[in-house]
Amino acid sequence: MITMFPKRACRILVFALLLHAIGPAPILSSPQQATPATSVKRKLQRGTGDPWWKHAVIYEIYPRSFQDSNGDGIGDLNGITSRLDYLHDLGIDSIWISPIYPSPLVDFGYDVSDYTAIDPLYGTLVDFDKLVSEAKNRNIRVIMDFVPNHTSDQHPWFKESRSSRTNPKRDWYIWRDGKGPGQPPNNWQSWFGHSAWKFDPATNQYYYHHFYREQPDLNWRNPEVRKAMYDAMRFWFKRGVAGFRLDAVSRLFEDPDLHDDPILPGENAYGDSNIVHKYTDNLPEVHEVLREMRRVADEFPGNRVLISEADEPNITELTKMYGKDDEIQLPMDFQIADVNKLAAPEFRRLLDEVENNAAKGQPHYFFSNHDQPRQWDRYGDGVHNDQIAKLMAALLLMPRATPLMYYGEEIGMRTTPPARKEDVQDPIGKLGWPEEKGRDGERTPMQWDKSKNSGFSSAERTWLPLPPSAAEYNVESESRDPDSILSFYKKVLALRRTEPALQNGSYVTVDRDNPFVLSFLRKNAGKGNSILVVLNMSAAPQTIKFDLVSQGIKESSAKPLIAAPQLSPDGAVLGHFTIPAFGVFVGAVH
Ligand code: GLC
Repeated sequence: MITMFPKRACRILVFALLLHAIGPAPILSSPQQATPATSVKRKLQRGTGDPWWKHAVIYEIYPRSFQDSNGDGIGDLNGITSRLDYLHDLGIDSIWISPIYPSPLVDFGYDVSDYTAIDPLYGTLVDFDKLVSEAKNRNIRVIMDFVPNHTSDQHPWFKESRSSRTNPKRDWYIWRDGKGPGQPPNNWQSWFGHSAWKFDPATNQYYYHHFYREQPDLNWRNPEVRKAMYDAMRFWFKRGVAGFRLDAVSRLFEDPDLHDDPILPGENAYGDSNIVHKYTDNLPEVHEVLREMRRVADEFPGNRVLISEADEPNITELTKMYGKDDEIQLPMDFQIADVNKLAAPEFRRLLDEVENNAAKGQPHYFFSNHDQPRQWDRYGDGVHNDQIAKLMAALLLMPRATPLMYYGEEIGMRTTPPARKEDVQDPIGKLGWPEEKGRDGERTPMQWDKSKNSGFSSAERTWLPLPPSAAEYNVESESRDPDSILSFYKKVLALRRTEPALQNGSYVTVDRDNPFVLSFLRKNAGKGNSILVVLNMSAAPQTIKFDLVSQGIKESSAKPLIAAPQLSPDGAVLGHFTIPAFGVFVGAVH
């Protein structure tokens, strides 16, 4: 969620074990799994019997900004297809594509006007099928974004619903009488500012919109709505998508008695009173819907996955998202994403909490997405940002979790907000300027090379400008530099695949009282190496006396696998381990 302003059958198992034993093909079978394209085979070592998403690295693509193939200045599906080799070589297993459905684009696709089609701006269903099949050839699965909370006000369902009080689709949305003339039904506020109720003179009632007024909320208490939405999910599952990222899913229900939300002191960026969204967020019925959605996903073979966007406030609420392994497999962990400072004790606490979640669910980490300022600046200190970007990469990719990357983080893309209000594209930036500049800054086009528009588009003008930093921070330049952020990501991603302890090892924090350095082991249950990860979150070198004997580690030093910057020659001695400022060390211990 947008927290930055103001987430079988025995036969299949046997087949998977066989594949695992005979060759490099990865993970369990799924409609999107194929023999790797011969030119791009990878060395893979996977845990047996696990669903594919437990070992996957997922990569979010904001489709407007990844690659433009037709010169209109806006990214598209064929553009994504043309960049699949890059993603494969980087080490990505799955892409989540932000919405590509037909949309008036008030919220850049999160206002859907048809759930079972592709917006012509991005291409056609044929292009989509081609993307899925080309991705499959590279062992990359495609996850779609699904927007269940609201439609566009241009969706035919809403047009019908608003046409009369007796229309059969009237109850598909939330319509209520005002409190009195000119007075909305209650004090609920839109996440995007001002009242969450919009008066519709045609029928003299208000409709509820948690986000923009052009995004009316669906009524999930209506069984026909549920059926229509589940059928839309089936439409894409049948086309081979590996799963859905469920947008704003904690907002599906509102208090039927319309209690006013509690008011807090102060005002938000839109000039409204601060408020607790107590009666419009996380109502218990959400879980009933999640179970139903999971049953829909489970109708299809291949371990289809559900990812939830829900900024759960604590581990108890996050744990609920897993249900009894009958709801979401991968709830996005906003607690960890939003620590927003390099604080080893805080990361240690939060990683421990989710590692030990009562549902035994798979942790799902990320730091950046299309709603959050990018991690390069958010975690950078203004001086060591490139080094900190490497540290954040290791923090994301080394724990026992399914990591979620955001396009461009691997090259150190930074947040580049518009300089002038008239350049803003994201409506919340227009509404909240200058305090809230909107989300354009984290949505700028991918920086591929040094050519025109950094290789993103041949257009004279791209939908958002390429940031000046693109001249230095781009895929082409960084591919040539062994010390670049991109080269670091590649090394870490490759190690994740090849080290059994990083595939299947447990996660154990060590040196637990250190205020500056986060250290953990990925412990191999068998006889092989375990992996020690040491992340110095401070601007000074730190010396640590590791005592790992109680963890079964007998040797006195670690064998460096990845270190940035390099350690001094005797640096990896466990009893006297010195790590440079913001240093990252990943080593094998035995
Ligand atoms: C989610 C999306 C965000 C969108 C909002 C409304 O939070 O991530 O981009 O604006 O939902 O659909």
